[in-house]
Amino acid sequence: MKSPIPDYLRVVLENARPVESGEPASYIDVLANADTSKMAVALATVDGHLYSAGDDQVEFSIQSISKAFVYALAIQDAGLPRVLEKIGVEPSGDAFNKLSLERVTNRPMNPMINAGAIAAHSLVVGPDATAEQRVERILAKLSKLAGRQLHVDEAVYEAEFRDANRNMGIGYMLKAAGIISCDPREAVRGYVRQCAINVNVRDLAMMAATLGNAGVHPISGEEIIPHHSVRQVLSVMTTCGMYDAAGDWVSNVGIPAKSGVAGGIIGALPGQVGLAVFSPKLDARGTSVRGVIMCEQLSRDMGLHMM
Ligand code: DON
Repeated sequence: MKSPIPDYLRVVLENARPVESGEPASYIDVLANADTSKMAVALATVDGHLYSAGDDQVEFSIQSISKAFVYALAIQDAGLPRVLEKIGVEPSGDAFNKLSLERVTNRPMNPMINAGAIAAHSLVVGPDATAEQRVERILAKLSKLAGRQLHVDEAVYEAEFRDANRNMGIGYMLKAAGIISCDPREAVRGYVRQCAINVNVRDLAMMAATLGNAGVHPISGEEIIPHHSVRQVLSVMTTCGMYDAAGDWVSNVGIPAKSGVAGGIIGALPGQVGLAVFSPKLDARGTSVRGVIMCEQLSRDMGLHMM
């Protein structure tokens, strides 16, 4: 029997298309020149069905969505106690690139803001690893989650690294505070490369569905993310994944999520689905405008809200 879900996803897409507000990220040309007519949505169930509509083959850089998975890797490689020693779990209520650390512990507030994400990146593999070794491990993990080999978009990487002054400032601040032990330039270089990995919405929906399936890939059946770290990752996504928009998101959509400045958003509902949307125009907080509208409709129609 033909599934009605792809037709439904097309409706969700077309409902959001007329909304013209927002602008693509402007801090590098490659993102500023993104084709803003592109839009896609994908939904993967925890029992291994994947549906999509729109420009579902169009690739874009994963950006901050990578932070959720790199946090999981940091927990896997360094252990949760060490990760908690270095990175907090409290929502900051601030923008993603704020230069701030907790007062008493010196830790970044959480792993979803850049400071926490750079610290998490530095914990992947081990303290003596190079940026290449870390990125290789991250790329292998994300590829397994996507079910295909992913690649770094070198144009995005080079443009971001050329102009990484703010993240570099965060890197040096983390080093001075004793949060990272490696060379801050290397930590930031690896972090920028991790953000420049290209994905499409189908890749992201499978990644999200693996989180929703307690770390077990819905198609391959392989445990890719250990169960205990999935709980940690989804908790932090719920409270911090949408930065200073977390409250609006939890009220209106109500599922653990993570956004990226290239226009992607993922949502993962335990025991049910992983979803992914893409549209490059962002609101003032750096979240895809049409992406949020699509997620709100999916949540409403499918009863995905946790409450
Ligand atoms: O660190 C940065 O500025 C970017 N490479 C990633 C930021 C990002 O995706 C923020 N999320 N909406």
